[in-house]
Amino acid sequence: MAEPTTPNVAEDLLCIHAIITRGLNVSIERGRAFTQGGYPDAPAREGFIDYVRSLVSVLHAHHLTESDVVFPSFRARVPDAPFDLLIAQHRDLEPLLQQANAAIGEVSAEAAAGAALARLIGLLERVAGLWHPHIRVEEDHFSPDRLAVLFDVEQHEALNRAAAGHSAQHSGPDYLVVPFLLYNLAPEKRRYFSRSMPPIVTEQLLPVVWKQKWAPMLPFLLP
Ligand SMILES: [Fe+2]
Ligand SMILES: [Fe+2]
Repeated sequence: MAEPTTPNVAEDLLCIHAIITRGLNVSIERGRAFTQGGYPDAPAREGFIDYVRSLVSVLHAHHLTESDVVFPSFRARVPDAPFDLLIAQHRDLEPLLQQANAAIGEVSAEAAAGAALARLIGLLERVAGLWHPHIRVEEDHFSPDRLAVLFDVEQHEALNRAAAGHSAQHSGPDYLVVPFLLYNLAPEKRRYFSRSMPPIVTEQLLPVVWKQKWAPMLPFLLP
């Protein structure tokens, strides 16, 4: 993945899709391994639960942001995109995310990897089954090349700011979601994606103030 040089709302969507896709893959693969071999220790269990909780929160916020903020500004400019279908798919995924959240609560209450974890993995597999065809349609219609000529640079950045603000309002907690977003991305995309985060977040909160809280997720994140 090359580092994007010009702000482009389609590049930010590709970043979020890459974050969520990796989050689903890691949660399912590592969760399956835990159902078979158990958690290696308590921090791994805690980190895994925080990781999956962040994934579900980010996924929920991403759908809301597309439906409420991004798609309304795309509609007139990308008339061939199936917006109503995409929004219906967001709605179809929501009950699965709510069930996944309930399952995460049950996983936190069971000391060893057991039936609740197996149920959570099954739910995430169903989410993944809907997620991949859904983002294929989005990425086919909203490519960086196509969107580059439909909005000027200021419009791209204004839309990115509005989308990031809406997502932040509907996801959390920040001390888990911000590291989850940044460290499920390859470093060159991470630099691009973090460009509009306030320096206090990237230089103080993330590496210092919040570090202990998100450190258990490290085994599931990229370096
Ligand atoms: Fe979507
Ligand atoms: Fe999307």
